[in-house]
Amino acid sequence: MRAAVYFKHGKPEDVLQAVEVAEPGCPGRGEVLVRVLLRPVHPGDLLGVSGRYQPGSVIPEGGIRVGFEGYGVVEQVGDGVNLKPGTRVAFFPGRGAWSEKALVAAEFVTEIPDEVSDEAAAQLHVNPLTTALLLRAVETSGAKPGRDVVVLTAAGSAVARLTIALLLDRGYDVVGVVRRQAGVNELNVVFPDLPVVSTDKTGWQDRIFSASDGHPIGVVLDPVGGETASAATGLLSQGGSLVSYGDLSGQPISVPALYFSTRDIRISGVTVGRWAGLPQELRKADLKLALELAASRPELFPVEEVFDLADVAKAAAQVELPGKTGTVLLASQ
Ligand SMILES: NC(=O)c1ccc[n+]([C@@H]2O[C@H](COP(=O)([O-])OP(=O)(O)OC[C@H]3O[C@@H](n4cnc5c(N)ncnc54)[C@H](OP(=O)(O)O)[C@@H]3O)[C@@H](O)[C@H]2O)c1
Repeated sequence: MRAAVYFKHGKPEDVLQAVEVAEPGCPGRGEVLVRVLLRPVHPGDLLGVSGRYQPGSVIPEGGIRVGFEGYGVVEQVGDGVNLKPGTRVAFFPGRGAWSEKALVAAEFVTEIPDEVSDEAAAQLHVNPLTTALLLRAVETSGAKPGRDVVVLTAAGSAVARLTIALLLDRGYDVVGVVRRQAGVNELNVVFPDLPVVSTDKTGWQDRIFSASDGHPIGVVLDPVGGETASAATGLLSQGGSLVSYGDLSGQPISVPALYFSTRDIRISGVTVGRWAGLPQELRKADLKLALELAASRPELFPVEEVFDLADVAKAAAQVELPGKTGTVLLASQ
């Protein structure tokens, strides 16, 4: 079977390739063999390929198979698993999701109802579950709907769009921050009344204050880091929280020490990489939310382009282009 593999860290489009590998064996007890049809190419997958998570880590001789999330059909199940072959499923986390077949623990396999499209099912886990983590972070920060403003940077991203939709549903005031003026209009197509500011125009911090209409800025949700996160942190009100969940700029966050002593600013982070270790009840609630979103808000699961698995390098290059309006998917039969 084919699998996307890299043998050295580097620019994803330079080091990713689809190669022939041995098929996984038969599923053992509690395991499911999935024939994977679609999988998303996440910016986070590419961080791993470029070696940004663990600089200097050594790659085994056979390379590293990429991907943790996928959608497909059940091919075979091990003892103790109550899923029929042919059932539509999505999974996360499952190693080697960018392979034609993946062996996954049944605990992390989700049956897909008819009302969820293949494309939304392929994006069911990582982004919506990150949104669930971000919502919990907002709630535990003490920010209250109707009182506090939540600011999202990289607000046009797939994760941010899902999060904005749920924050608005819950009654929070939200301000979006994007990096291009055109991104303001793109986001307003989905959320017509959302105040959105672009960092490519000076004075964007002042425009966030104006859009907040005197309400305290309680939380900044940031996957950018660097100057954007540093400046946005400066807007937080007393006791406010910066929740970091990405590193799109590749630059450090730098804030004055006085923010901590005088304004009691908190900085924390979330990662979906720890989601599998959460208590089962929380995971069930998060998956329910993800399935509801995928069924009722398909417009929040847009697809930019679908590439064949063989074109994994081209797909990776596409993800890194500015102005994308959907998720890049990799397909196999
Ligand atoms: N912590 C976690 O567990 C977790 C889980 C999922 C995702 N994430 C992170 O969340 C972020 C968004 O992921 P996604 O899949 O939702 O993204 P996406 O749909 O691929 O969109 C990326 C967005 O980021 C913007 N962007 C890219 N580089 C930027 C930069 N240097 N400065 C400002 N904005 C920039 C792009 O703006 P343009 O429209 O201008 O191109 C685009 O709106 C990524 O950092 C990803 O790693 C984290």
